[in-house]
Amino acid sequence: MAVSVLVGVQWGDEGKGKIIDVLTADAGMVIRFQGGNNAGHTVEIGDEKFVLHLIPSGILRKDTDCVIANGLVVDPIGLMDEMKALTGRGIDVSKLQLSCRCHLIMPWHKLLDAYNENKAAAGKKIGTTKRGIGPAYAAKANRTGIRGLEILHKDRFEKLFREGAEDYNRTYGPLGAEPLDADKAWAEMAIAIDYLKPYVKDTVVTIHQAVKEGKHLLLEGAQGAFLDIDHGTYPFVTSSNTTSGGACTGTGLPPKAVTEVWGVLKAYMTRVGEGPFPTELHDDLGKYLQDKGGEFGATTGRPRRCGWLDLVASKYSCMINGVDYLAVTKLDVLDDLDEIKLCTGYRIDGKVTTDFPADVSDMARIEPVYESMPGWKTSTVEARTMDDLPENARKYLKRVAEFLDAKIGIISVGPRRDQTFRV
Ligand code: GDP
Ligand code: IMO
Ligand code: MG
Repeated sequence: MAVSVLVGVQWGDEGKGKIIDVLTADAGMVIRFQGGNNAGHTVEIGDEKFVLHLIPSGILRKDTDCVIANGLVVDPIGLMDEMKALTGRGIDVSKLQLSCRCHLIMPWHKLLDAYNENKAAAGKKIGTTKRGIGPAYAAKANRTGIRGLEILHKDRFEKLFREGAEDYNRTYGPLGAEPLDADKAWAEMAIAIDYLKPYVKDTVVTIHQAVKEGKHLLLEGAQGAFLDIDHGTYPFVTSSNTTSGGACTGTGLPPKAVTEVWGVLKAYMTRVGEGPFPTELHDDLGKYLQDKGGEFGATTGRPRRCGWLDLVASKYSCMINGVDYLAVTKLDVLDDLDEIKLCTGYRIDGKVTTDFPADVSDMARIEPVYESMPGWKTSTVEARTMDDLPENARKYLKRVAEFLDAKIGIISVGPRRDQTFRV
């Protein structure tokens, strides 16, 4: 059976949640493998809208097991709140498992995230979600992190917690960081760890068992390729491997287990937070895409920056992810435009290249080279087959697939589950 990895191939918010929900119709298990509650994955079913931050988007299907695997950094209080909110809406969360090997986001990680952002000089701020993601992954790399398995040993956890809180107050207090009230913070944490205890599992075992049983596994990426700590627009990135390689280290599945890679591609580009964005539109058109596409962060509510589809960057991203199939989303947002542009080259210091630069100072000097295509000026929201699409929309998609050398497998023409079709 298939082990499918699904990743965002831009700067996140491509519509991964929606496509995961669609693909989950055939999946036995959905697994998050990196990131944390910096993610906001939206699923709309009929009139109901769900925004998932840590819990896999498969949770909305009745018979699908869901796993928060070892590669994540998990805020125990955030997870408990998300589980309770879903339970309150009639969703069964008993089929959720939390890896004993995941790392936990502690309250001082969130305070440190805010402290680092606030103290950074102009031009150095990353524009993080302030969920403590960077400091928690830093603690993991520094070998001072607290892992999910400590939830099973409350006394041990409390000792580590108090040591960590004291260390934070001692080190960062004198520098002006917000102090942490360890007693109050532990009281809050203790409630969350009691709540989460039954869900902590060795998920490497359960994931491999599911493979043995022939279940279809769907590995749900968070963020997107240009936020990848190795391949993104460093340092304006998140702190994990958001590309398909991260799916193996983040779950304990070997590379040869993966049978297909889905890349979710928005029909235009967005970015939330700081950092280079060559095709960003600073004019009315950028504002138009933001309004029509509802481009406001699902986690922080911040407006997303918008621009034309950057095929140069997307090609790099399809290459490093090994994308087999693209799911193209938000085609409907382009419905009313007279002209649509595609960036097919970067002019840097007068020279045109199709290579994606590693250096953000090169990125900042990019003048995009555009190809222009006529718009289709027809609503696509009711389209359910390729033939239902206007000819210019089909031409647009054909050009995108050709440039990216990838096959389009799904097209999405609206936020709802039913506004999707396979190609
Ligand atoms: P994710 O982080 O990749 O899961 O994406 P987000 O949920 O943060 O952002 C995608 C937004 O676009 C959500 O509000 C979705 O409901 C919405 N969306 C997804 N697909 C489509 C689509 O094809 N058309 C439109 N108009 N909206 C979509
Ligand atoms: P989903 O999964 C879009 C961005 C932040 C910031 C940078 C670092 O919904 O696509 P962090 O808090 O991770 O240290 O912030 O990454 N970012 C996202 N942007 N979608 C996301 O997730 C994001 N998660 C983080 O805005 O620029
Ligand atoms: Mg999102």
